[in-house]
Amino acid sequence: MTTLRAARADDYDAIAAVVDAWWERPVLKILPRLFLDHFHPTSLIVEAAGHGADSVPELRGFLIGFPSVGEPDQAYIHFVGVSPSSRGEGLGRTLYESFFSLARGWGRTTVRSITSPFNHGSIAFHRAMRFTVTGPVIDYNGPGTEYMTFERRIDTPAST
Ligand SMILES: CC(C)(COP(=O)(O)OP(=O)(O)OC[C@H]1O[C@@H](n2cnc3c(N)ncnc32)[C@H](O)[C@@H]1OP(=O)(O)O)[C@@H](O)C(=O)NCCC(=O)NCCS
Repeated sequence: MTTLRAARADDYDAIAAVVDAWWERPVLKILPRLFLDHFHPTSLIVEAAGHGADSVPELRGFLIGFPSVGEPDQAYIHFVGVSPSSRGEGLGRTLYESFFSLARGWGRTTVRSITSPFNHGSIAFHRAMRFTVTGPVIDYNGPGTEYMTFERRIDTPAST
């Protein structure tokens, strides 16, 4: 059985231990501890009950997101990851839809995110989640970088 809960700052170590393996490339450098220290109340964790004597829950998925400080109508998702063994079961959708509900509660109407043009799985996931996909946007994060940008309204009747 899996449970969904708000993240805590001390979830960082469990997340940091798996992200490079889950992404199959080094991504830890773009997920520093500050994201859990400062954005844990608006981020989400999916975990499975632990087995055995210690019963430590097993991380199955996480979403790092927050309401924009500068753009009062927007919320931003920095990272979403689902354990390779749990993919295709709807956990990514559950994390996104749960975040959309939180974002509506903050009065946000738009959710944004970005990904590498080479992350075809992420692009397909965001299309399935009915984000508008733009890009590759050249020099998005500075010279020589390219990113796909994602945007979705969450305030229309069809957006639930
Ligand atoms: C992207 C990711 C979070 C998707 O998680 P998931 O739990 O497998 O996704 P879900 O099972 O909830 O799928 C939701 C929808 O997206 C689609 N989808 C997800 N991954 C897909 C893929 N690789 N190719 C095509 N479609 C995909 C599903 O078919 C589903 O569509 P449907 O609801 O219309 O049937 C997961 O693959 C992952 O962790 N990838 C590595 C990390 C990463 O790249 N994160 C995103 C960038 S920060």
